[in-house]
Amino acid sequence: MNLRKTITEYLGEVEEFTSAASDEIEAFRVKYLGSKGLMKELFKEFKNVPGPERKEVGILLNELKKRATEKVTSLQAAMGNASVSTESSIDVTRPGFPYNVGSRHPVSLVMNEIIDIFRRMSFTVAEGPEIEDDWHNFTSLNFPEEHPARDMQDTFFVDLPGNFALRTHTSSVQARVMESQEPPIRVIAPGRVYRNEAISPRSHCIFHQIEGLLIDKDVSFADLKLHVLYFARQFFGEDARIRLRPSYFPFTEPSAEVDVYWGLETEADYRITKGTGWLEILGCGMVDPNVLRNFDIDPKEYSGFAFGLGIERIAMLRYEIDDIRWFYENDARFLNQFRQTF
Ligand code: PHE
Repeated sequence: MNLRKTITEYLGEVEEFTSAASDEIEAFRVKYLGSKGLMKELFKEFKNVPGPERKEVGILLNELKKRATEKVTSLQAAMGNASVSTESSIDVTRPGFPYNVGSRHPVSLVMNEIIDIFRRMSFTVAEGPEIEDDWHNFTSLNFPEEHPARDMQDTFFVDLPGNFALRTHTSSVQARVMESQEPPIRVIAPGRVYRNEAISPRSHCIFHQIEGLLIDKDVSFADLKLHVLYFARQFFGEDARIRLRPSYFPFTEPSAEVDVYWGLETEADYRITKGTGWLEILGCGMVDPNVLRNFDIDPKEYSGFAFGLGIERIAMLRYEIDDIRWFYENDARFLNQFRQTF
């Protein structure tokens, strides 16, 4: 028997063998590697190989054993668990392994929900830059020259030529929309805003707002109230109650702040609502005629309302978060609580 030739033939056979059936792979394993298998036999034969050929044949033989072993391992691995489990041991009714796709930030969850509500009321989404000029953030919105918001104490100014600052409210997007669109206008503008405030459990230098702006013929304060009430009922539930308190903003006249009734059931409710049961969720008002004129909209023909919702505060209510700083810490233990699995 020419052992070298035999081994070479087997090497070819090993090379070509493939199967996804466990019984075939097992048969292959037994044939080559079993206790009465080919390898055993060939090694027995090897003893008779004459001296000068021993080294070469020995190498070939070891190679064959190695390849056969590798083949079995890789085919078994390719079959996965199927090679060790019989068909009946697979429970196809078990739920899939939860596939973790990360989590949405609670601020995004609340923003998306609010955007959806206004989309259903035919509002479209507008955007504007976070680094804003004085005209869009202040002047066009009727801020007097000496208004405190223009002070370094309240606003982050940006060290660029010109008069730039991080926008202090999303009302700057109102300005950009009125500048580029003709009435009728119906937009919301979600976004991040910045104020130079001391960071505490209740306030942060970064937060989010959703601005709303509606301009059309014969828009009245009653329309504003209706929209706000409708929103509150969609978001907080059908029996949500709101109240409007007179307020002041340079760009709206008259202006109001809107509270939603939250209740006084828990200790946290007392703290959050300062003992009143009411929580302020937005500022609003009828767009000041001066503002309309700044954008060549005739206040005799058109009127409108605007509002600005504070997102963090609403998210804190909804998810019972007692410190605004959680939103910006990127603490996985916090964020994982909003995880969704699919
Ligand atoms: N921009 C105001 C604020 O940040 C909110 C507001 C928006 C008030 C629109 C009236 C109209 O406090």
